[in-house]
Amino acid sequence: MERSAAGALVAARAATVAADIDRAFDALLAVPDDPRHRLYEAMRHAAIGGGKRLRPLLVQATCDLFNISRESALRVGLAIECIHVYSLVHDDLPAMDDDDMRRGKPTVHKAFDEASAILAGDCLHDLAFEILADEQTHPDAFVRIDLVKALAVASGPVGMAGGQMMDLEAEKARFDLATVTRLQNLKTGALIGFCVDAAAIMARIPVEARTGLHGYARDIGLAFQIADDLLDVEGDAALAGKALGKDAAAGKETFVSLLGVDRAREQGRLLVEQAKAHLHGHGAEADLLRAIADYIVERDR
Ligand code: IPE
Ligand code: IPE
Ligand code: MG
Ligand code: MG
Ligand code: MG
Repeated sequence: MERSAAGALVAARAATVAADIDRAFDALLAVPDDPRHRLYEAMRHAAIGGGKRLRPLLVQATCDLFNISRESALRVGLAIECIHVYSLVHDDLPAMDDDDMRRGKPTVHKAFDEASAILAGDCLHDLAFEILADEQTHPDAFVRIDLVKALAVASGPVGMAGGQMMDLEAEKARFDLATVTRLQNLKTGALIGFCVDAAAIMARIPVEARTGLHGYARDIGLAFQIADDLLDVEGDAALAGKALGKDAAAGKETFVSLLGVDRAREQGRLLVEQAKAHLHGHGAEADLLRAIADYIVERDR
């Protein structure tokens, strides 16, 4: 697919998904008229508006393969976005990356305070599992249990949180390429992998028949984090909506620090081609997944 065509396909679907996600958060996070209002306001600040909504889009794109209902796809997308937003709110805290801007707005601890940011992150984490466990997400309780378990695994010590721990260590230790790859597979890849796996779980595809999808997810997950690390070095902070140049300033080992900008970019492209090759058994119904793979390394935010 042409580069611009991939971008246009992603942009069109992403706009719809983003509007659906904003509307759903708005309905779920009505501010109560009691002393908890600050918590809800902090959650709304973090969750509504901005963000590429790439993970919900990825859920939708994979659901396209299996004719999963729009409602199920949207609710699973909302759950993964809750976990992603919580991870960003905590990632930005002074104890972690100490950032002031996120999605073009002040970070939650800047707009509110640290305690509110910690609690807002906690509650977004909890909301994710509440959404997955609800009957509206999927009528089959066994499917819902599988979704809950998969998201828990992808978020915890063998997933995102474990990767975040390694990422903090990467400021002090000298990691080699294999260790940085593992770090990124956990920090970013696990949640991206969930997006694809969730659709297969809802379609009741046996695990042994998911090899191609898992390969696709692993490759785009790595390519996604390489693109984030490249943007940190050469991106435009106004477009990205967050401070850049932070990894090098922190002395953090990344793909870019280890390989240099050109080889890291080349590696990202190779991963995207490899990701698309995993979809060879699919026809036009996988075009959005192919376009997302291209978009991941072309993006400027
Ligand atoms: C940023 O994720 C954090 C990483 C996992 C690298 P995104 O680039 O998806 O951020 P938003 O959701 O668009 O703000
Ligand atoms: C954060 O990675 C990934 C998470 C799991 C939240 P980064 O620290 O590189 O993300 P940015 O660059 O702040 O968005
Ligand atoms: Mg970080
Ligand atoms: Mg950060
Ligand atoms: Mg980054």
